[in-house]
Amino acid sequence: MMTGQVPILVLKEGTERETGRSAQKDNIAAAKAIADAVRTTLGPKGMDKMLVDSLGDIVITNDGATILKEIDVQNPTAKMIVEVAKAQDQEVGDGTTTSVILAGELLKQAEVLLDQNIHPTIITNGYRLASQKAIEILPQIAKKVTKDDVEILKQIAMTAMTGKNIGYDREYFADLAVKAVLSIVENVNGKFRVDVDNIKVEKKIGGGVRDTELIDGIVLDKEKVHPRMPKVVKGAKIALLNAGLEVKKTEISAKIQIDDPSKIHAFLDEEEKQLKDMVEKIKAAGANVVFAQKGIDDLAQHYLAKYEIYGARRIKKSDMEKLAKATGGKIVTNLDDLKPEDLGHAELVEEVKIGNDYMTFVRGCKDAHAVSILIRGGTEHVIAEVERALHDALKVVGVTIEDSMIVPGGGAAETELALRIRDYAHTVGGREQLAVEAFANALEIIPRSLAENAGMDAISILMKLKSEHENNKKSYGVDVMNNKIEDMFKIGVVEPVRVKKQAIESAMEVATMILRIDDVIAAKKKSEMQPGQQGPGQQPGMGGMGGMGGMPEM
Ligand SMILES: Nc1ncnc2c1ncn2[C@@H]1O[C@H](COP(=O)(O)OP(=O)(O)O)[C@@H](O)[C@H]1O
Ligand SMILES: [Mg+2]
Repeated sequence: MMTGQVPILVLKEGTERETGRSAQKDNIAAAKAIADAVRTTLGPKGMDKMLVDSLGDIVITNDGATILKEIDVQNPTAKMIVEVAKAQDQEVGDGTTTSVILAGELLKQAEVLLDQNIHPTIITNGYRLASQKAIEILPQIAKKVTKDDVEILKQIAMTAMTGKNIGYDREYFADLAVKAVLSIVENVNGKFRVDVDNIKVEKKIGGGVRDTELIDGIVLDKEKVHPRMPKVVKGAKIALLNAGLEVKKTEISAKIQIDDPSKIHAFLDEEEKQLKDMVEKIKAAGANVVFAQKGIDDLAQHYLAKYEIYGARRIKKSDMEKLAKATGGKIVTNLDDLKPEDLGHAELVEEVKIGNDYMTFVRGCKDAHAVSILIRGGTEHVIAEVERALHDALKVVGVTIEDSMIVPGGGAAETELALRIRDYAHTVGGREQLAVEAFANALEIIPRSLAENAGMDAISILMKLKSEHENNKKSYGVDVMNNKIEDMFKIGVVEPVRVKKQAIESAMEVATMILRIDDVIAAKKKSEMQPGQQGPGQQPGMGGMGGMGGMPEM
């Protein structure tokens, strides 16, 4: 990464450069600005942000990841922070705001030390030690859960969804998320594994959010290809074809001389025969449903309908894979290979009108390794927010089942970590001790922000919290709903240990990375160049630095 030898650079004329403390100060300021932007959204009482893009489209959310994804960040340091949030979102689905706020606060604390002439290396070493200690302590304050603790899993989902604009429906979605995840848990060599990609999320405008439904199978945004096909197939036996039911066009359009009308007939007969053969093979294998990844020719549709076989076409590859997982069927390429045992099974395949469109539901898949959630809602905005909330919920429930460990939320874990890391600091000694203490101070930004965002007196809350934790009440945090401190396990504000671990580690990584930078070299802005001049700003990799804001001209 950024360690190692310093490369010798011969700079082009016009390259902007900033070194030493001034570079550091600017970088830290940029990172803090991003952290401040999302700080007020933290927690259930966090405020929303309205994001307006250049086309005037709006998103209203308090989802940290979404805010950072949507805002157009130019500054390279700020971009690094945004990347951290994105990674956090992808890996664990939650804790994005936390990681960004923490990174900002680590840098703020570092500034104080830099002003006391403590070298960045000392600070980064101290931060690293403290973060390792934090990771070590986390399991000690965690509680064990299993996948049978359904109520706790629901609490995990609820906590992750707090603050999302789904209001009173949180419990409904928590229930849905837990059921969805539990139905796709796999046991790999004695360990539980959850791949939320096996939960297909489909959306359709219309109805209310409570019409959002978990399907023990797959829902496809596809209609049956022919009106005379059955609308409902019970006891479905499903052929999964990663080809189409078509005669390859290249085969037909191969030069035919139409000098004799009977030749055309013969030719068309041949095509018809091939299509009919295909359908016959499907029928012979015993299928009453066929899903094709490519097209289904009109004539093939006709034959399928005649045999009362339900057919849908142009199914996405990823959906074909999910269908295979859900129905236990095998995807075949060549119809000659289709055997009865390759067919997937479902209690029901049916076409249903949802909103303005017809969709195909594959339901009642026994032992399904893939399921679907069909999100409903009055507007696209509502659906998008539900989707974000569900994404977080599915992820956190998944990682909880994989790790089987939870920690108290509401700033309880951070308060406890701060306390113990302060104790640990004494054993470190030297100037690194100051950095370890700074790390502990930084962690308290989480309970403080939660309290502040709820309009509580943060200073007094923090004092009360500390005194409880000193009395070994490890799970006391900020109860923002009742404006007091409370045992977070008792009120069910809980988070997966992995979310906290990842947030702390990634915040530390990005903060130390930024602290180690003492030289910012930026390619000249394109707009400042002469017309026709090929500048370094056009080279890949350097382009991102072209828009650096706030850089003094040198
Ligand atoms: N009911 C609650 N009371 C107190 N804190 C809560 C509650 N629900 C969630 N939290 C806390 O809010 C924080 C998460 O806020 P959120 O806005 O979702 O940010 P992030 O993007 O970091 O997940 C966590 O510290 C979590 O423990
Ligand atoms: Mg969250």
